[in-house]
Amino acid sequence: MISRNLEEKLKEKGAEQDILLSLFDKGAAVLFKWNNDETWSVPYVSESVERLLEYKSSDFVNSTVGYLDLIHKDDLQRVHSEVDAAIKEGRDYFEHEPYRIFTKSGAKKWVHDSTVAVKNAEGEITHFFGTVVDITAVKEKDKQLLQQYKLAQMGEMISMIAHQWRQPLNTISITASNLNLNIMLNSCDLSLKEEAQKFKENLCENLGNIEAYTQTLSRTIDDFRNFYKTDKESTFLNISTPIDKALAIILVSLTNNGIEINQVLKSVKEVQLFASEMMHVILNILKNAEDNFKDKKIINPKINILSYDTLYGVVLEISDNGGGIPKSIINKIFEPYFSSKCNKVGTGLGLHMSKIIVEDHHKGILRVNNCNDGACFTIELHE
Ligand SMILES: Nc1ncnc2c1ncn2[C@@H]1O[C@H](COP(=O)(O)OP(=O)(O)OP(=O)(O)O)[C@@H](O)[C@H]1O
Ligand SMILES: [Mg+2]
Repeated sequence: MISRNLEEKLKEKGAEQDILLSLFDKGAAVLFKWNNDETWSVPYVSESVERLLEYKSSDFVNSTVGYLDLIHKDDLQRVHSEVDAAIKEGRDYFEHEPYRIFTKSGAKKWVHDSTVAVKNAEGEITHFFGTVVDITAVKEKDKQLLQQYKLAQMGEMISMIAHQWRQPLNTISITASNLNLNIMLNSCDLSLKEEAQKFKENLCENLGNIEAYTQTLSRTIDDFRNFYKTDKESTFLNISTPIDKALAIILVSLTNNGIEINQVLKSVKEVQLFASEMMHVILNILKNAEDNFKDKKIINPKINILSYDTLYGVVLEISDNGGGIPKSIINKIFEPYFSSKCNKVGTGLGLHMSKIIVEDHHKGILRVNNCNDGACFTIELHE
C-alpha cells in the first residue's frame, strides 16, 4: 500500500516536471544543464535552443557542438571568472553580465544567463542549471539610446563652444578695426622715424593680441571636449588665475565701452580648480554685466570683482551697478535657454553652463542676488 502511494506520488512529480520542462521547450528562455567539467558538456538542453542558436538540442547532447566554443572569445574569460568567483564566494545562484554568443549561421547575439550550481552529498559541484535568454533587441535599443544621448551631448557641446567663441571673436574684431581706423585716419606720420617706430610697436602688440585670442578660440574647443569627462585634471590655484584669464579676453571690450573695473583680490588660498572652465564662468558673468549696461544705457558703468577667504574655502563676488535683475525672472536665469535678450543674440546658455561648472564640476555654489544698484553673482568654492 505504502509503495503504491509512493509510486503515484513519483508519477505525479514526473508529470509536473515534464510540464515544467515543456515550458522551456516552447518559451523564449533556454534551459541548460552543464556538467562541471572542462568543456561544460551539456547532458540536457531545452528544445528552445534551436530558436536561440539554430543548433538542435541533440547537437549539444551528442557533443557535436560545445557551448564554450560558441561564446565570443572576448567574453569567454570573463564568463569563466564570474563562475569561479561565485564558487569561491559560496554563491549557488549567480547571474552573468550579458555576454555574446554565436549562432550556427554565425550571427552574434547578446544573452542573459542566470545559473544555479548543484552539489552532491559531498558538497562538490557536479553540474549547473541555467536559463539563457536572448537580449539582443534590448542591447540594440540601449545602443541606440546611448547614440542619441551622445548626439544630444555633442549638440550641447557645440552650442557651448559657439557661446564662448563670441567674446574672443568680438575682441579680435575690435582690435582689428581699431588698427584699421588708426591707419585710415593717418594718425601718425610714418615719414618721421619715431612715429613710424611707435606705429610698428603698436601694430606688433595688437597682432600679438589677435594671435593670443585665436589661441583662446582653439583652447575653448578642447575645454568643452573635456566638459563631460569626469577624469579631467584639476589643479590647486588661486582664484585670481581664472580672473586674469577672463579679463585678458574681455578687457578690451569692457574698456571700449567705458566700463570701470575694480578688483579687490584678498583671497590667498589655493583651491582645486578646472582653471579654463572657471575662466568661462567669470567671462559669462562679466559679459552679462556688459550686455546689461549697454541694454540699459547705464552711465558710469562699474564692475567690482572681490575675492576673499573663509573658514572653508574661497568666495568670489562679481557685482555691477546695472540696476539688477527683475524679481520676476531672477529665479529663472540659471535655467537652460532662459534669456531676456530674446530679440537679440542671447541663447540663454551662459549662466546654465556656469552653474554646471561651479556646482557639478567644482562642487561649489553659484548664487545671484540684487545688491544696492545692480546684480551680484557669488561663487563659493570649498577647499
Ligand atoms: N548682470 C546682470 N544684470 C541684469 N540681468 C542679468 C545679469 N546677468 C544675467 N542677467 C539676466 O540673466 C539672463 C540669463 O543670462 P544668460 O547668460 O544665461 O543668458 P543670456 O546672457 O541672455 O544669453 P547668452 O549668454 O547666450 O548671451 C539674461 O538674459 C539677463 O536677463
Ligand atoms: Mg549671457
